[in-house]
Amino acid sequence: MIKNFDPEKYVDLPQIPGDETKRQYYFIEQCKKRVVELTETLGHAPTCCVTTFGCQMNARDSEKLVGILKQIGYEIIEDENADFVIYNTCTVRDNANQKVYGRLGVLNGYKKKNPHMKIALCGCMMQEQTVIEKLQKSYRFVDLIFGTHNIFKFAELLYRTYDSKEMLIDIWKDTDQIVEDLPVERKYSFKSGINIMFGCNNFCSYCIVPYVRGRERSREPKEIIREIEQLVADGVVEIMLLGQNVNSYGKNLENPMSFAQLLEEIEKIDGLERIRFMTSHPKDLSEELIQVMKRSKKICRHLHLPLQSGSDRILKAMNRRYTKEQYIALANHIRQEIPDIAITTDIIVGFPGETPEDVEETMDVIRKVQYDNAFTFIYSKRTGTPAAAMENQVPEEIVKEGFDKVLKLVQETAQKRVSRYQGQVMSALVEEVNESEAGMVTGRLSNNTLVHFPGGDELVGKIVNVSLDECHGFYYIGRQV
Ligand code: 5AD
Ligand code: SF4
Repeated sequence: MIKNFDPEKYVDLPQIPGDETKRQYYFIEQCKKRVVELTETLGHAPTCCVTTFGCQMNARDSEKLVGILKQIGYEIIEDENADFVIYNTCTVRDNANQKVYGRLGVLNGYKKKNPHMKIALCGCMMQEQTVIEKLQKSYRFVDLIFGTHNIFKFAELLYRTYDSKEMLIDIWKDTDQIVEDLPVERKYSFKSGINIMFGCNNFCSYCIVPYVRGRERSREPKEIIREIEQLVADGVVEIMLLGQNVNSYGKNLENPMSFAQLLEEIEKIDGLERIRFMTSHPKDLSEELIQVMKRSKKICRHLHLPLQSGSDRILKAMNRRYTKEQYIALANHIRQEIPDIAITTDIIVGFPGETPEDVEETMDVIRKVQYDNAFTFIYSKRTGTPAAAMENQVPEEIVKEGFDKVLKLVQETAQKRVSRYQGQVMSALVEEVNESEAGMVTGRLSNNTLVHFPGGDELVGKIVNVSLDECHGFYYIGRQV
């Protein structure tokens, strides 16, 4: 735990509630008073920009930050030249970290011109000690730093920054707390992410997530159901259940429950039309889940099943706990049971010790499984992970060569796969009006493919039937029927 202030030292505040949710609402009220003062000083409501790096988990966390900031009275804007800027950071690969450092320089320029400006940093990158040391040394203009485990304390921490002249730091090593019922401001009115679990216990040898997000903790099913029911009452038709490894949901609950059982309960919620989830670890994907998906009318025909590598030797070194053969058998079985399912994946090229032959093995899986889409990443060395200490790191040119080959194959196979729906009629949830092309909207099919078709604002949030007329690589141009 890194902390440079006393959390209990409130000189001016009486009667702080003991219950954590109530405590945070109390601080929201305290912050509101400050924002009223600030509004008078500035002549307008203070503006605020929340910038998100990384995955869907972070996107959901940012919705929580925005929810609190809006309640406090900030005007939320997209421009980072604002009175309050918060970066919700990612550290899964090093380029995410480098982006943050680069952009902090720009923020410093804004801050020099705006004496009221405050800058905060949170998220996965802040859980790394070396990052905090660097920020303390070279980025003194940052006002507040907190991590992934105490994001629920945001209102309280923000309150502290109003009177503080120094950088406030509050990083926790871990937590077993899950604080419910804090404000959230959804980016989309008709769809929402929902955390069903936090953290990861898998310790894949390249991955920093278990170190920055802590051990697996599942939310109580009744809390999840209650949240979804509220969302549906508020107009949400599609939900995305979020967890680093949803297939191990519920194992550590007082009354254990499987992920498949949770899905069956969620399916019963009236008014909910579509259920998605992310991410599945192949080693934990159960037959029970496949059968629940097969029977379901609401679970989308999409499964994200990260492969990472197709070489048994590399999979072992990655600590993935499945073999190439097991993975292919699983994918084939899923396709057999649910023929219209889209399977997507993550692939890493350049893991320590990887040879061109290993890359060939990965390409062999791509050819056999025929992914609908795949995210290909260059291995990034993360300090503190077992892979970072491995001696046989692969030279950059060799990695690049393998990466280009994998990317080309993935794109070819995915395009072929996506184009097989040409001429069919499918239902799409309309997500937005196209910014670049007037009179067109973008919808998402159950299998996660996008389709653009003529339409207007009134369609956003609706599920409509669309004829998939022309396949353009990874998306379709269609028309409503
Ligand atoms: N280097 C490259 N890619 C990584 N991922 C996780 N850690 C690393 C790393 N050190 C990828 C994995 C994972 C996805 C979210 O990010 O493919 O599935
Ligand atoms: Fe990282 Fe592996 Fe956990 Fe995914 S399952 S978050 S890759 S450790």
